[in-house]
Amino acid sequence: MSGSLQLAGLAKRFADVAAVDGVSLDLADGEHLALIGPSGCGKSTILLMVAGLLAPDGGEIHIGNRQVAGAGTWVEPDKRRVGMVFQDYALFPHLTVSGNIGFGLDRLTKLERAKRVQEVLALVGLEALSGRYPHELSSGQQQRVALARSLAPDPAVVLLDEPFSNLDRTLRESLRLETKAVLRRAGATAVLVTHDHSEALGFGDRIAVMRSGHILQIGSPEELFDFPEDEFVATFLGSADFLPARRVDGGKVASEVGTFGPLEIPAEGDLAVMVRPHEVTFDAQSSGPATIATREYQGSTVLYELTLDSGSRLSCRRAPSPRFEVGARVQVRLIEGYPPVLFSEGRRIWPVGGTAGQQESDVQRGGKNEWHACSGA
Ligand SMILES: Nc1ncnc2c1ncn2[C@@H]1O[C@H](COP(=O)(O)OP(=O)(O)OP(=O)(O)O)[C@@H](O)[C@H]1O
Ligand SMILES: [Mg+2]
Repeated sequence: MSGSLQLAGLAKRFADVAAVDGVSLDLADGEHLALIGPSGCGKSTILLMVAGLLAPDGGEIHIGNRQVAGAGTWVEPDKRRVGMVFQDYALFPHLTVSGNIGFGLDRLTKLERAKRVQEVLALVGLEALSGRYPHELSSGQQQRVALARSLAPDPAVVLLDEPFSNLDRTLRESLRLETKAVLRRAGATAVLVTHDHSEALGFGDRIAVMRSGHILQIGSPEELFDFPEDEFVATFLGSADFLPARRVDGGKVASEVGTFGPLEIPAEGDLAVMVRPHEVTFDAQSSGPATIATREYQGSTVLYELTLDSGSRLSCRRAPSPRFEVGARVQVRLIEGYPPVLFSEGRRIWPVGGTAGQQESDVQRGGKNEWHACSGA
């Protein structure tokens, strides 16, 4: 029951705002995409155009190899085989769970409809609640009914617009895992819109980061997190520091977290090394070049904020033991297995290549160390 989704040069303007400005993407059957970006960047507008609730100004949409919008083509929303799940569930209050799920199945006979409702109820584990009304359900249960309703007509594509954002953190996590599994069992191609980077990283087979109507980068969660193309993508997906670095003899690059190389990088332009908090560590050293500025205990880990003698700040996440106190002098270094990721003018220059680049897939961040000499700068 799956179908691929293709967007080609999709565009939508509202007065003087280019809400969606030339978005192209190609999802395989059964693939799950997470679409993430700041408020107002055009995420919901894309979903509304795919669902047929909004007409594009330019570009084309294909669902399951059938064109549904663009170049004079228009397929009505109810003929697109698209299911939608919204933040506010939007269940019909006067219908039971079964009534809600069966609502869009008017093309089926009564018997077929009852059978399909049972199947989808089983898929989301709500068989026991089929006769309840929405106000008799918890918010997590309501969201599962909304998911079941979207799946009932056997859609080619399911679109989820921030479906978990009304839920508390624990429920959000469990429902996300459950939703992913249900979509997988149903074989559905899915697009999830979210503001939350851990939700995007956890849900998507691929992630697309958007800004101002554009997709900045699309790729696997690992590609985007480890090898972001620019600083915006890097910081949108999680905390990252950018420490100044400089070219030194022998084609090497020196920074306060180590000296790397030789690396083939351009001879000109500023340099910065991206450091995520789990990629760096430190050792107590009274003559070290950094001071522990803050320490925050977070249960399974401790987040330290270091001040380097250059004035740069650096976050470091490590195990609670051994314990280091604020004010201690330390020596910092990248943990083995995290090769340097270098930026110049806000753009990644090392490792080189696009998101599907050979070099990147060869480099296993967090795996065995493949890169050369690292020593205190
Ligand atoms: N019906 C509309 N009329 C006018 N402007 C609109 C309309 N819908 C969206 N916009 C504008 O288009 C841009 C993109 O909006 P959209 O709702 O797609 O953003 P979003 O990425 O979903 O944001 P959020 O994360 O806050 O939901 C915004 O500048 C928004 O103000
Ligand atoms: Mg939105």
